[in-house]
Amino acid sequence: MSALLEVEGLGVSFPLGGWPARTLRAAHDVSFSVDRGELVALVGESGSGKSTIARAIARVTPAAAGAIRLDGVDVLKTEPRGPSQAYRRRVQMVFQDPFASLNPVHRVLHHLERPLRLHGHATGADARSRAAELLDLCGLRPGADWLDKWPHELSGGQRQRVAIARALAVQPDVLLADEPTSMLDVSIRTDVLRLLQRLRDERGLAVVLITHDLAAARLVADRVLVLYAGQLMEEAPAATLLSAPRHPYAQLLVAASPRVGRSLDHDLPARPGRPVVVDPGSGCPFAARCLIAEPRCATVDAPIVEVGPAHRARCHALTG
Ligand SMILES: Nc1ncnc2c1ncn2[C@@H]1O[C@H](COP(=O)(O)OP(=O)(O)O)[C@@H](O)[C@H]1O
Ligand SMILES: [Mg+2]
Repeated sequence: MSALLEVEGLGVSFPLGGWPARTLRAAHDVSFSVDRGELVALVGESGSGKSTIARAIARVTPAAAGAIRLDGVDVLKTEPRGPSQAYRRRVQMVFQDPFASLNPVHRVLHHLERPLRLHGHATGADARSRAAELLDLCGLRPGADWLDKWPHELSGGQRQRVAIARALAVQPDVLLADEPTSMLDVSIRTDVLRLLQRLRDERGLAVVLITHDLAAARLVADRVLVLYAGQLMEEAPAATLLSAPRHPYAQLLVAASPRVGRSLDHDLPARPGRPVVVDPGSGCPFAARCLIAEPRCATVDAPIVEVGPAHRARCHALTG
């Protein structure tokens, strides 16, 4: 049995121009899967390729390599020219900025009515009640009281709930949530994370939660994937990753992130550097910052190896 969503060997590059032309490798050999009723967190500091991976899965950004399988079907092969309407319905994305994601000239109802009608989940009069149900589900209760509000009347957290309700209007199977709480007040971040968890449990949604906040991942994720410079460095059940990380970068992240709301973007006890690979050769992209790097780390790609049950890591030090 294949998982609902499987990403295998995904690669995404951006041409940077110049002469000779340079290339930024935003994702490289990324493989993971997410099943129904599972919440997987994709964690990494800013610039590590998290959004790129989500956008490639949503097929907003073209993949240069790999496979993206939904129910076992590689959509890069079956839909090479772009995603079908069915794929776009099944895989929905929620973005970071709840202020940019709602149209200020339309009331809340409008944002939900359109996807409901477009995908045939509501007609005429029942669009209003379906929209109210969705808002209820997303914690704006009673939903009917929120339908006629304008975006400017809502807080960031309330807007993010509307954005999530809108994504759910088309009854997706996969929700890609790209830093959905990073622009919200710390006090309401947990509520939005709990909402994602509830949707996983009650709707059987497959959720990919992108975050630079490891503590947020710890709070709600089943599995955590640690990304650095577009590569998966480690994957483990959340509790395992937080208690026994194996990759030096994952160990740094865990050490630097004791509580919800603390970002990974500063205070890492490593040599300075950025998680970016331009004009890729071989070698571990973290080698230059790694405190235990060996000579081969800079020149030879490390394989990702199994280090425990459902636990994989990509580090030469683990291969002996
Ligand atoms: N359209 C683009 N053109 C060129 N470079 C890009 C583009 N989108 C993203 N990048 C680069 O790819 C890398 C990964 O970016 P991104 O996926 O946004 O990271 P994250 O979401 O983890 O912060 C960054 O170095 C970023 O500058
Ligand atoms: Mg991003």
